[in-house]
Amino acid sequence: MAPQILIGDRAALEDALSADFETRGRRAVELRGVFSVALSGGSLATEFFPTLARLSFDWSRAEFFWADERAVPPSDPESNYGIALSLWLGPANVPPANIHRMRGEDSDLQRAASDYAGELVDVAGNPPRLDFVMLGAGPDGHIASLFPGHPVSRDGRHLVAVVEDAPKPPPRRLTLTMAPLVGAECVVVVALGKAKAGAIRNAIERDETTPLSVLAERSGNMRLLLDEGAASLLSNRGKVGR
Ligand code: 6PG
Repeated sequence: MAPQILIGDRAALEDALSADFETRGRRAVELRGVFSVALSGGSLATEFFPTLARLSFDWSRAEFFWADERAVPPSDPESNYGIALSLWLGPANVPPANIHRMRGEDSDLQRAASDYAGELVDVAGNPPRLDFVMLGAGPDGHIASLFPGHPVSRDGRHLVAVVEDAPKPPPRRLTLTMAPLVGAECVVVVALGKAKAGAIRNAIERDETTPLSVLAERSGNMRLLLDEGAASLLSNRGKVGR
């Protein structure tokens, strides 16, 4: 199903992401008592996590996972977990038991990937159905650490995989594969700036296959939050939400 597209300035995108999070979070808690979330890194984290940290939400009901992580220790400035902890989970006092980080520092990344898949299934079921996945998008159309043309992006056997040669540094990463992303109740992809415009246009208006376009095609409920720069190459802008 085609993703819902929202184009707006930073304030409008923050409001939309916050409203999505709160609405879906409250509904998940009412239905099942828990709200499973997966986070990514990059500008999604630095630009939006401080706002999400200020939501009045019962964080004891939220279970936090990651869509991807760099193969670095939590204290490393490159750590997606470390950035989320400092900008959101720490300030919001999310209980540590509700935080399920990928162990990027593990000397055996395959073991770390397998262990994480088990942790994900324990909370989100098998196959896992995450309630709310938040991703950024790369200028090449990558999402999480699923890169165009990379075999891990086509991995249909595992829930979590190891990337040894990511084109975006650092090269070694852990990532959810496409299945748990496609299987999520809701996926929100945030893209800011003209550098992303080509990847967004290719995912929405052309058939160039990238992980972003595959997710847009296969997700049952995906929202694209774009600023004017990221949306600047879309031809059918008139039909998108404001
Ligand atoms: C990572 C991220 C990655 C990121 C995109 C977009 O670990 O690097 O998970 O998928 O979200 O590369 O990053 P920017 O929004 O910073 O361009």
